Amino acid sequence: MGAEEGARLLTAAVNLVVRHARQVGDGPVAPEELGTGAIRQWLADQDFDVAQQPEHVLPEVMEALRRWGVHTTHPRYFGLFNPTPTWWGIAGELIAAGVNPQLAAYSHAPAAVEMERHVLRFMAGRLGLPATTEGTFTVGGAEANLSAVIVALTRRFETYPQTGVRGLPRRPVLYASAESHLAWLKIAHMTGLGREAVRLVPVNGAHRLDTRRLRAMYEADLAAGLEPFLLVGTAGTTAGGALDPLPELAALARQWGVHFHVDAAWAGAVALSDRLRPLLAGVELADSVTVDAHKWLSAPMGAGMFLTPHARALSESFRVATSYMPAESDELPDPYVTSVQWSRRFAGLKVFLALAIAGRPAYAAQLERDVRLGELLARRLAEEGWTRVNDTPLPVVCVADPEAEAAGREHSTAWHAAAVHHVVSSGQAWVSTVQLAGRPAIRLCLTSHRTTEDDVEAVVTALGHARKHG
Ligand SMILES: Cc1ncc(COP(=O)(O)O)c(C=O)c1O
Repeated sequence: MGAEEGARLLTAAVNLVVRHARQVGDGPVAPEELGTGAIRQWLADQDFDVAQQPEHVLPEVMEALRRWGVHTTHPRYFGLFNPTPTWWGIAGELIAAGVNPQLAAYSHAPAAVEMERHVLRFMAGRLGLPATTEGTFTVGGAEANLSAVIVALTRRFETYPQTGVRGLPRRPVLYASAESHLAWLKIAHMTGLGREAVRLVPVNGAHRLDTRRLRAMYEADLAAGLEPFLLVGTAGTTAGGALDPLPELAALARQWGVHFHVDAAWAGAVALSDRLRPLLAGVELADSVTVDAHKWLSAPMGAGMFLTPHARALSESFRVATSYMPAESDELPDPYVTSVQWSRRFAGLKVFLALAIAGRPAYAAQLERDVRLGELLARRLAEEGWTRVNDTPLPVVCVADPEAEAAGREHSTAWHAAAVHHVVSSGQAWVSTVQLAGRPAIRLCLTSHRTTEDDVEAVVTALGHARKHG
């Protein structure tokens, strides 16, 4: 295929994407059923033995995606942290794919590496991290948190790089709240720490890590001969958007001599707003931070960021030398020696373009608008008699029905699941079930910049119907 045909193909793809964006809000947010049988039947004809015209294949693919999937870009998707990508971000994806710079070696892609570094430094500055902060773009939050564990182990244990966990005299353990994102368990599994190394600290009534319980666990672990090496504070928990007490956690980490990581995968975005930024107070004391651009910064997946002021520990964690890679220089470290990944796509371009074209103040205005809509949603649900179950200034609202709750936990779990099913299967909105510290609830998160006050009212109405007919 030559460039001219390529241009026709891309134009057709762009037109389909634009049409999707225009029309997604008119259809259901989610399909009535998964449709696995029908999807496989359609794919059975795709044997790849016969070439097909793009005019035929592209619309079929788009139609499959339209029919069989939850529309995270729908204005009434009140779902997980999957936002509607910005057009700048989509353009960044296209350019990154087309030019395909290889970000493993600095010398292969100096412009791309420097653009990413520029964005990472900008983010570090907004978070109040030291000017020496370095970092790397990751696939997402889980990879950024994995990077944090590896850097923390490397900083704490001199022998870890060579002999790993098995070479340590005592078993290392890390602390994160029971409401933290449980990629920690997978990470502990992957790094050889073992899942038991993750000490999930109970939360208080506001679902924030309970520091009294943390101290007690720490003392007990020391007494049992374990070796604490990492304390995680979550800024914006996945279920309820709770903000752990970062300054207090930073002080404890310093006192204990352990690495302090802040998982701000979702809420780190508020660093872009002067008004909301104080919510992250304490993050500037972190030894490392996770912020996902593909969450509240509305970049297409995947674009996570891992930041750390410990540049040397970062390079020590991922160092390797080979004859076949272009030579590194100390001043210009190659990204493959500061990242879990080796070959790496230009994930940072979509964030660079969005920030460069929209500008930070526009981002701030959007984030502040989302927070206001979250407040409206919370107010309207309270007026309709729902009980708010979470406690956060961020736009995640978890509610429960008081009567269903009064009938006991088992009944409440089933009742809320049925109510969510009613809303989702109506196609009117997408909301989810959640258990906050074991309390069943319905979770609604403002994730799309397309969401309006009317959409907020619509989801309140849909929940009202679910309550009446559920
Ligand atoms: C607080 C938090 N940390 C980490 C992650 C993992 O991020 P990702 O899914 O991008 O790997 C999530 C995902 O929702 C999250 O909410």
